[in-house]
Amino acid sequence: MKITGGAKAKSVEAMFSSIAHRYDFLNHFLSLGFDITWRKKAIACFSDLRGKKILDVACGTGDLAITIAKAGDETTRITAGDFSREMIEIGKTKIKEADLDSAVTMEFSDALNLTYHDNSFDGVTCAFGVRNFAGLNRGLSEMTRVLKPGGRMVILEFTQPSNPVFGALYKFYFTQMLPAVGGLLSGNKDAYKYLPDTVYQFPAPDKLSAMLEGLGLERVEFNPLTFGICGIHTGIKK
Ligand SMILES: C[S@@+](CC[C@H](N)C(=O)[O-])C[C@H]1O[C@@H](n2cnc3c(N)ncnc32)[C@H](O)[C@@H]1O
Repeated sequence: MKITGGAKAKSVEAMFSSIAHRYDFLNHFLSLGFDITWRKKAIACFSDLRGKKILDVACGTGDLAITIAKAGDETTRITAGDFSREMIEIGKTKIKEADLDSAVTMEFSDALNLTYHDNSFDGVTCAFGVRNFAGLNRGLSEMTRVLKPGGRMVILEFTQPSNPVFGALYKFYFTQMLPAVGGLLSGNKDAYKYLPDTVYQFPAPDKLSAMLEGLGLERVEFNPLTFGICGIHTGIKK
């Protein structure tokens, strides 16, 4: 299936596919396991997952989808989509191993061109995905379109720490050490240089909040996590 977003989307897809086999290990290793807590906090934005249909966009190897399934019950249904087939294949294996096949459906899905009907999900989530979209506004607009009125959008994304001292230390780790270690262990140094590059280029939380409001979300909030390394954006579709 053709993907939307031209050369940028193709190179993002190729890069994630090339590191898919080391992705989970490096996520946990390079974040010192914090990514697990961040995903749990993101899912805690949903007060009740019973009977809810959730779409997880740019799901990667499925960690957020699995977190949702574990937080919900046997009536919670998750559709998890990504445009990297390598990521999806690893995710499918993890879902089978966790015995969550009845809760989670993993499939090829292009975030810039979602094939789902308007107003079809009670919740739409995306962890560390929107920063990679070849068209941010288009991806956010698609996520909003498929969300039901009253449904909640939850976006977990890296941010820049606001404390200047911590920010400088973190920048050294993020721009110098992480590409070196990530590159060595994944075999793709560019992928781990791409990560800090995209974080420093990404719109600040207030700008992202304004975009979400412009797309028709209300009660838009941003909650920073772990000294502002990342944060949770959430809003409700009007
Ligand atoms: C940093 S990973 C995050 C994966 C996962 N959500 C997590 O929490 O670990 C970013 C993912 O976004 C996916 N991605 C980027 N642009 C996409 C698009 N337009 N459509 C679908 N997936 C996309 C990549 O293939 C990759 O798996």
